[in-house]
Amino acid sequence: MQEPAIFCGNASPKLAAAVARAVGGRLAAATVERFPDGEVRIEIAETVRDRDVFIVQSTAPPVNDHLMELLAFADGCRRASAARITAVIPYFGYGRSDKRHGRREPIGARLVADLLQTAGVGHVITIDLHSSQIEGFFRIPVDGLRAVCALSDAIRPVLPPDTVVVSPDVGRLKMATEYAERLESSVVLLHKTRESGTKSRVTHLVGDVRDRACLVIDDMISTGGTIADAVQRLLEEGARPGIFVAATHGLLLAGARAKLSSASIAGIFVTDTIEQPVERWPAVHAVSVAPLIGEAIQRVTSGQLVGGPL
Ligand code: R5P
Repeated sequence: MQEPAIFCGNASPKLAAAVARAVGGRLAAATVERFPDGEVRIEIAETVRDRDVFIVQSTAPPVNDHLMELLAFADGCRRASAARITAVIPYFGYGRSDKRHGRREPIGARLVADLLQTAGVGHVITIDLHSSQIEGFFRIPVDGLRAVCALSDAIRPVLPPDTVVVSPDVGRLKMATEYAERLESSVVLLHKTRESGTKSRVTHLVGDVRDRACLVIDDMISTGGTIADAVQRLLEEGARPGIFVAATHGLLLAGARAKLSSASIAGIFVTDTIEQPVERWPAVHAVSVAPLIGEAIQRVTSGQLVGGPL
């Protein structure tokens, strides 16, 4: 059997290189750049004929550029007779657009699923999809990996023994329960209402945080508003300052640092599904998901079961 080809676009070069090392291989050669007018130019520099191809690319900001790179890459591989094309999308952008919230709204995640399949993608590997029903938008296999294990292992040594796991909204309750099981803790639930893309409000707290240490978990930190609101509410309810945060996808957009640079936040643990800028702030710790993805690739190429239910 031919060696699988692992490629990357411009969103995840460090993670892709670490994934290639984890499987004992190397990144396959390709150029991904822009024409002067901004269009994507891809040159695949080695044969993919009859090979199992993996394209590692988070659809991270700038989301549309990275998505188009991934689509063009898959199209190039399909036209070059790849045996199977797996899009490894550690962070799946548009995941929050998984239903219509009002009239005349698109469902972005479904559109992305259709585009990937049209481009020739035959299999998707992703991590902590915003909602598990997105799998149903695809007609091809989707393997959903979970970062809870890697993040809980990294954060366990620094957590005080009486820590409770806090879900910042109802949508993260299942994930919070998984953290609590791994950390042998209990769960507190906040209820959040979103007023706009940048503004949300905590309306209820279920549980008791008085004099307790807290770990707030989430699938992603985008503007930082959700975590900042959660921390503020926990402190108002008597939680001990020195709150920890764990989130799979650290988008950490402009403005997030200002919102989350509070003395009450002791540390923020994210994974490397989003590549962090060099001048990260000291409170942020990145945990690599390269071993997780590497193992998934090895399992796919050897026909074994990958991950569990999304
Ligand atoms: C929302 O449902 C998500 O799980 C996250 O809580 C949210 O997208 C985080 O965004 P931000 O950091 O902008 O509040």
